[in-house]
Formats: sequence, structure tokens, C-alpha cells
Amino acid sequence: MRRVLINGRQSKGEINRNLYGHFAEHLGRCIYGGFYVDPGQTEIPQQNGLRTDVVKALRQLDIPLLRWPGGSFADTYHWRDGVGPRQERRPIINTVWGGTQESNHFGTQEFLELCQLLDCEPYITGNTASGSIQELQQWVDFCNQPAGLPGAELRELSGHPEPWQVRYWGIGNEPWGGGKASDARFYALQYRQFARFLRADPQHPLCRVACGASVDDYTWTRVMMEELGTEMELLSLHYYTRPYKDWSQRGPATGFSRQEYYNTLENACFMEDLIENHSRIMRQYDPSGKVQLAIDEWGTWFLPDPGSNPAFLYQQNTMRDALVAAIHLNLFNNHCDTVAMANLAQTVNVLQALLLTKGPRLLLTPTYYVFLMYKEHQGARQLETFAETKLLREGAAELPDLSVSASQAADGSLLLTLANLDDQRPQELRLYLDGLGAAWPLKVSAQLLSGQTAGAWAFNSFDQPCQVQPQLLPVISKGPGELAVTLPEASIAAVKVL
Ligand code: AHR
Repeated sequence: MRRVLINGRQSKGEINRNLYGHFAEHLGRCIYGGFYVDPGQTEIPQQNGLRTDVVKALRQLDIPLLRWPGGSFADTYHWRDGVGPRQERRPIINTVWGGTQESNHFGTQEFLELCQLLDCEPYITGNTASGSIQELQQWVDFCNQPAGLPGAELRELSGHPEPWQVRYWGIGNEPWGGGKASDARFYALQYRQFARFLRADPQHPLCRVACGASVDDYTWTRVMMEELGTEMELLSLHYYTRPYKDWSQRGPATGFSRQEYYNTLENACFMEDLIENHSRIMRQYDPSGKVQLAIDEWGTWFLPDPGSNPAFLYQQNTMRDALVAAIHLNLFNNHCDTVAMANLAQTVNVLQALLLTKGPRLLLTPTYYVFLMYKEHQGARQLETFAETKLLREGAAELPDLSVSASQAADGSLLLTLANLDDQRPQELRLYLDGLGAAWPLKVSAQLLSGQTAGAWAFNSFDQPCQVQPQLLPVISKGPGELAVTLPEASIAAVKVL
């Protein structure tokens, strides 16, 4: 039996809703076939081309934020190609992801309409690689200038007089990658030039996201802070979880070895080191903590599904992915004083997707259910937790066997999320609730996500879509402030106390 203590007296503050953000790139079937289909076809229900099944599923998650159009695709994207009457838009070749032709029928307006349907904030990544300062400035104007001003003309002609008020703007993407090989000092100067020319109404200030480090490139973070100080609101970090450090070895998404399972989870836990080390450097230059981290690309990256186009990054999603998501979201909650945004890559049909589509069919992945079970952490007050853990060892991999976070919502309810990372042993847990000021007995309910007999290897397929789904988890009250639950091997629980 292991003890987990939830301390209602200590908190790092509010869990920014944007920690539960997502990312949608023009890559493979994320946009075309995923979010958007030809409005003229009748097989797939849609509204102005936007898939209604996808919108409905995502609305269940209360997603706060969606990043678009890339990623690396943003480096080649020119927003004017994707506005105005659809039939008049020029098609483009997606040179970054597989050389496929795109109609450009999904552009800024469609993205902003999608965000409206999802009731989430749009986050647009500007093109600082092949685009100009003027182009980005005019994109911001297109979205945000009040009607009647010159920058808003094109938007008004497109039938949307009211400004969209897009707040989140990424100033480029991965300047260190994708053949750009920019160094941090060069990018910092470039950032400053782009950022300074963006016009914003003082009533609606922009939130500018500067490109931060790849993984553990702490020099990048140091140089950015040295050069720019607080001349940005957020500094990004990109880190993908893979079973091997060597990029050429990504391992399969299903049917992986036990060693690959443990390597993957150990690498997911590495996110904590990254958050702590990057934030420490940021605080040295910005003690007030004005600039916060935006982990605007995270998630698993395995080998593409056999038979799929390798450039489309389509991969299945197992309970292992769900555990990676649980570890990350618990970490983000527990570091909500320094991390202000995080975006899982990528919402539909790409990498660690929430949703997979096949023609008119839609599949909810185990990762989707983690976001469903965790959604009430959004905007709640993070609570300190202590968990007794054991070290799991498999080959060279070492990691704690339990991942935990807790929060208290405005209505006083508590959400405790726990993941048992051990793929062979269940865990009996005793939960001690302290300092919550609640009267006992309380109303307690809990959900469990597990792969049952297939454990970490379980996944939902179009033939068997309900292999992994949340179930009710029995919780035993042991007396005032004390609960008992048992987590099966490789499982995730969300315990709610009212
Ligand atoms: O998410 C896939 C790609 O990974 C993105 O386009 C890029 O930013 C990152 O390298």
C-alpha cells in the first residue's frame, strides 16, 4: 500500500487553461480529411467544410487553444494565398510534408471559424523564414484591425466586418531547424524586428511567442533572455517523446517491446528536467517571471503506421501514449507557476493524435480520454501533492512508478489525477486529503483508463473502437480525509471529490 497526500494549504497558483492546448498543422491528414473536407461532398457531415464530428468530439474536451498553421509548414505559408473566395484561391504544394498539392480552401477564415465553433483561442504562427515583416504585420491587421481601417478591408470583403482579435502570435517556428540553422543571437534580432512592427490595439494586447529551445539547448534560452529580456510574453520549448535518443530509431507505435515502453515513459518524465532547467535560466534574467514557457509542441513521435505515407506522420495511439499524456499534464499542472501554455502535437491524424479519421469514420484515442478525464484541472488552483513512489528499472531506463497532480476548482471540488506507470503491478493507494476545508463524508467519484488484458499495448482501432475507454473506478472511504483506490497496471485514474 502506498500513500498519496493532497495538501490543500499549498498551491503554485492557477493552472492556466492554455496548458491543455492543441496543435493543428497542414501536415498529412490533419487539416484536409481531419478538420476539413470538401463542402460539396455529402458523405461526411460538415459545416462550411468543417467536420461536425471532429468539432463535437473536441468540444467535449473544452479545448482552450489551437495552434496553426505549423510547425514547419508555417515557414512556407503565405496567408494571402488562403483568403478570399475559395474557388479563386491558388493551390500550393506542401513542400515541407510530402510534396502534396493543397487547395488552400482551409485558410485564416476557416481556421478562425473553426476556433469559434470549438470556443477556443486561436494561436497563429507567423512565417519568419520565407515571409516578411510586412506580411506578418498585415496578417495581424487582417485579423484584428477594426472595420473601416485599411488593414481590415480584405477581411470585410470576405464577409467578416468584426475583428477576430487573435491574441496569440508565434514569431516563427524552430529557427534552429528545418534547414534554417539560425543561431540564437541572429534569431533574437529577427524576433525583435518582427515583433516591434506588429500593431495592436492597447485594449487587446498581443501575446507574442518567441521561438525557444529544442529540447535541452539551454544556451538558446540563455541567449534569448540576454538579448530580449522581457520583450516577449512567452518563450517556447519543443520536445517530443521517443523511445530512443537516436532520431533515426523511433520504434513502432504499437507492438513495441517492454524496453521501448520504459524508455518512452522515462523520456516523457524528462520533461520535468527541461521545465525546471529552462525556467531557472529564464528567472535569472527575469526575476519577476513575466516571461513564461510555452511548450507549444509536445507528444510522442514513433514510426509511421506501416503502409501509410511516411511524410504524413500518421501513427496509432496506445495506452502508452495515454500514459505519456498523463505524465505531461501532471507535470504541467505541477509547474503552473512557470509554464503558461502547452500544445499537444497534433490533434487529428498526426503524431500523438486525439482523433483518427478514416473517410466518414472517427476514432477517439486513449490520449483523447486522458484530456477528457483531466479537463477540470483547467483554470483550477493547483494543489501540492506528495506520493510515495518506487523506482522502476528496465535495462538502462529508470523512472518513478507513479505520476500525480491535484487541483481545486472554484466550486471547491477536488480533482486528483494519478498514473500507475508499472506495466506489471497494480498499486493500492491510500489518499490523504488535508487542508481542503471540506466536511466529511464527501461525494467521491472516480474514472479509470486502462488497457485491461492488453495493458500498455491496448489501442482503439476502426474495427475495435472501444478497447480503451474510461470506466468507473471504485473508491473506498476509510474515514475522514482518507480514501483507498487500486490502480491496475499501466492505468490512469481521475478521482473527483465534491
Ligand atoms: O509536429 C511536426 C513537426 O515537428 C513540426 O512541423 C515542427 O515544428 C517540429 O519539428
